[in-house]
Parts: sequence; structure tokens; C-alpha cells
Amino acid sequence: MSDARLQVLGLTKRFGKKTAVRDVSFTVQPNEFFCLLGPSGCGKTTILRMIGGLLVPDAGRVLLDGQDITFDPPEKRDINIVFQNYALFPHMTVYDNIAFGPRRQGWPEDRIRQEVGRLLEIAHLTGYEHKYPRQLSGGEQQRVALLRALITRPQVLLLDEPLGALDLKIRQQLQLELINIQDDFHITFIYVTHDQSEALAMGDRIAVMNQGRILQIGDPRSIYEAPVNRFVAYFIGNTNLFDGSVKEVAGQQARVAVPGVGDLWGVAPHGREKLRPGVSVAVSVRPEKIHIARTAPAEGAWNRAQGIVQDIIYLGVSTEYIVRLNAGHTVRVFTQNLRRNGGHDAITWDDQVWVYWRPAHSLILPD
Ligand SMILES: Nc1ncnc2c1ncn2[C@@H]1O[C@H](COP(=O)(O)OP(=O)(O)OP(=O)(O)O)[C@@H](O)[C@H]1O
Ligand SMILES: [Mg+2]
Repeated sequence: MSDARLQVLGLTKRFGKKTAVRDVSFTVQPNEFFCLLGPSGCGKTTILRMIGGLLVPDAGRVLLDGQDITFDPPEKRDINIVFQNYALFPHMTVYDNIAFGPRRQGWPEDRIRQEVGRLLEIAHLTGYEHKYPRQLSGGEQQRVALLRALITRPQVLLLDEPLGALDLKIRQQLQLELINIQDDFHITFIYVTHDQSEALAMGDRIAVMNQGRILQIGDPRSIYEAPVNRFVAYFIGNTNLFDGSVKEVAGQQARVAVPGVGDLWGVAPHGREKLRPGVSVAVSVRPEKIHIARTAPAEGAWNRAQGIVQDIIYLGVSTEYIVRLNAGHTVRVFTQNLRRNGGHDAITWDDQVWVYWRPAHSLILPD
């Protein structure tokens, strides 16, 4: 038996004719921060509801510490859920909201008082005990909802877009707090989001989903640097995609003919054995891997193309260039703004430029 905290095995759920979740399996380790990431409607909430016991699967099983809990009611599972919309009891104070679970479990009141006080301190909410939810900001309400779910120290905490309703600054701050709290409490988190930057920032591992299926599970770096297919490359971060077909395979690399652009050398992060001349593929190149210059790079070591600067977007830390290639493709390039008036400032609108990048940064992905 594995020492996994949670195992999800072949979960499937249909609503009428629609299969919302299709044969989904994954394993989460104790204390892991596991993210489920995917576009709206891909089945994330449905998976959480089955793990939490709010929905019965059509097929598959859920194991908690090796025990089959698939058909146990929610209150019999040592699992709590935090939803997007706070869901605090409006007529109860912050204190009573957080004390709700412990009271139901029959904790003595002085232990509750002590623990609520400690949690409020961790969440920077000391002094809020007697306020009502309507007197709190969204971020404060969400922190209370989190404390309410954490106080009884469930084995697993399910979080369904818990920061989705908050604005960016508060979200980023709470992201950090959540990571610290999770570290502190040694609780396994399953965290649902459709925000790829949130998943990259927070997850120990990420499961990328689309249309009811998991496409890839891995740590943030491997998902970003070695996506399994076009969808994952496109959904995580920004990327430039070129459609083409394989011309030749030579050792670790392959040459892909991209109509209008020419030949690009690249590497296949997965499934290299399937690369054969004639196979249709997409080539993904991250914008930060591309160089931009008015002079041509040396031939040979680079993939390169010529184009015209269509747009320049200043982003503070970086600048984004939109380059229209002669063949009609549009390429995004990110460059770091290292110095004032340095480096790329010389490039301006309508300039004729070269864009170029290493073959190692051309990821060849199955179509
Ligand atoms: N109770 C239900 N009855 C019928 N269809 C449902 C039900 N719940 C979910 N669905 C459908 O199942 C699919 C998956 O829904 P789910 O809520 O799991 O998506 P999600 O990934 O959480 O999306 P979002 O990011 O928008 O919250 C959707 O197409 C949805 O319309
Ligand atoms: Mg959802």
C-alpha cells in the first residue's frame, strides 16, 4: 500500500449526456499542495465535490489514507472544503464562525478560545473576534473562511478558487499567506484554480485539465518547460506556436518545416519516438526565450526569422515586442528591462528586425 494521503482512481461523472469528468486519476502525498488547473467548465469543481462527498461518482474510487471513502457522507470524511464565495454564517461573529466546527466536535470552550486566538493572529485578524462578516472586506472574509476550515485540522483541505473574487494585490498577498499556513499546519491542500500564474506560484504539483480529463501532472517547472501537448503549452504561460511537419530527425533534435517561416530545429520534451518525417506537429517557443535585434544572428546555432515590429508594450520589469514575420505569423518577444536606455531601447515601431532562439527552446509537440 502506498503512503499517499489521497488517491483518486478512475473517477468519472456524467450529467445527462455530458461527461463532466472522465477517468481521472491522481495521487496526493501528505502535506502536498496539489493544484487542479484548467479552463472554466473542465470539471474541477465536480472532482472536488466527489472528493468531498457532495457528489457520488458514476465510476471510480476515492481513498483517504488507503481507506475507500467513495460512498461515505461528507461528515464522515476528514476533509473540509473552502469555496470561492466565503460562505460564512452571516448572523455569527468571526469568533463563532471559526468556533463552529470545534463546538460541534465538543471541544472545551477554553481550548477553542486559545486556538481561535492563535489562528486570528496567524491570519493578521486579531481584534476581529466580535465583527460580523458584513463588516469585513472580501479578503478578510476569505481568511476567516479558511481559518474556519483549518481549525479542526482535517487531513485534507479542498479549496475551490478561494481567491477568485479578490483583486490582484490581495490575491498575491493571500497566496503567500496560504502557502505559509499550509506549511505550518501540515495539511494536504487540493487547490482548484483556472489562473495559471496562481498554480505556478503555489503548487508543489499541478494537474492540468481540459474537457474532463487530466492532460499532465507535474511540478510547475516541468509543466512549463516540458508540456505534453499544444494545449498545456498554450494554457500555461505565454507561448508562440508554429504549425508544421517533421522533415528529419537527427539525434535529440528534429527539423520541422513551418510553411512561410522555414525550417525550425527543435526538441521533443515527450514522445520523441513518435517523431517521423511527415508527422504534423506544433512548435512552441516561449516569448522570453526569443532574442530580438536589428542585425542578423550568426547562421547555424539559431532558429531565426525576419519581421517588422508591430507593437511595443512596456510592462515595467519587461518589454513585450510584437513582431509580424514576413510570412504573416505574429511572434511575441519578452525582454527584461535591465538598464535604462540600454539594450533594446534602440528598437522601435516598424523596424525591420530578426527574432532568433536556440533549438533547445523550440518544443516540438504532438498536434
Ligand atoms: N449539477 C450539474 N448538472 C449538470 N451539469 C453540471 C452540473 N455540475 C456541473 N455540470 C457541468 O459539468 C461541467 C464541469 O463543471 P465544473 O463545475 O466541474 O467545472 P469547473 O472546471 O469547476 O469550471 P469553473 O472554472 O467555471 O468553476 C460543466 O460543463 C458543467 O456545466
Ligand atoms: Mg468550478
